[in-house]
Amino acid sequence: MLEIRNLNVEFSGKLAVRDTSFAVQPGESFGLVGESGSGKSTILRTVMGLNATWNGSISVDGQDVRKIPRKQLAKMVQMVFQDPYSSLHPRYVIGQQIAEPMKINGIANPERRTAELLELIGLGAKFQFRFPHELSGGQRQRVAIARALALSPKLLLLDEPTSALDVSIQAEILNLLNRLRKELGLTFVIVSHDLAVISYMCERLMVMRNAQPVETLTREQLRSGAIAEDYTKALIAAA
Ligand SMILES: Nc1ncnc2c1ncn2[C@@H]1O[C@H](COP(=O)(O)OP(=O)(O)OP(=O)(O)O)[C@@H](O)[C@H]1O
Ligand SMILES: [Mg+2]
Repeated sequence: MLEIRNLNVEFSGKLAVRDTSFAVQPGESFGLVGESGSGKSTILRTVMGLNATWNGSISVDGQDVRKIPRKQLAKMVQMVFQDPYSSLHPRYVIGQQIAEPMKINGIANPERRTAELLELIGLGAKFQFRFPHELSGGQRQRVAIARALALSPKLLLLDEPTSALDVSIQAEILNLLNRLRKELGLTFVIVSHDLAVISYMCERLMVMRNAQPVETLTREQLRSGAIAEDYTKALIAAA
């Protein structure tokens, strides 16, 4: 579903991602962990076409992202950001914000599908008339997820999707994401600082440091401590 080979991303002469490769299978949930500034968000943003200069290759569902028109890419892959407060527009009601990408892409019946999406993510259709400030943090993150699903993408890139939320609400959102992955056959790439979140959500994970992968582990290796690299051991000890 996602294949990244020898990716390099540079900002003003400094590499934010260096010679990074990994692949994510259809239906898999893949974690990215590592210290702040190690390049995790940059990888996700580059897949989405949000970074102009990079080299290497990225393919989504077997297609080279450089050859996928922007509107088509938006139907294949969507991103959910950490902060549901800043990712929703304060002046528009929820329903408008979920329907917007469908209108842009000429999807039939955006209003009906908006109501269906609000049911799917557990809020209910009546929420479409509310403004973001009338929702809790967890409810806003549900809306951000509904909007990401509006164009029925198969791949979701989740950048710290629960770290802005209370612990009790975090679990609700993680369980929602797990249910959606199963029901809709989604593939996830999840960035998190929280190894417990990664271990709960992901079958495999890649540890990053200084713009480069340190190692890739299965969930079983993470849980049993079958770890090769000292950096990963320190990360787990710190957690
Ligand atoms: N648009 C940008 N312009 C310039 N530098 C950037 C830009 N985006 C990221 N960087 C730099 O690239 C490096 C990697 O940043 P990135 O946001 O990918 O890290 P991260 O692993 O997601 O960190 P965190 O865990 O804190 O979110 C950092 O040094 C950052 O300052
Ligand atoms: Mg980040």
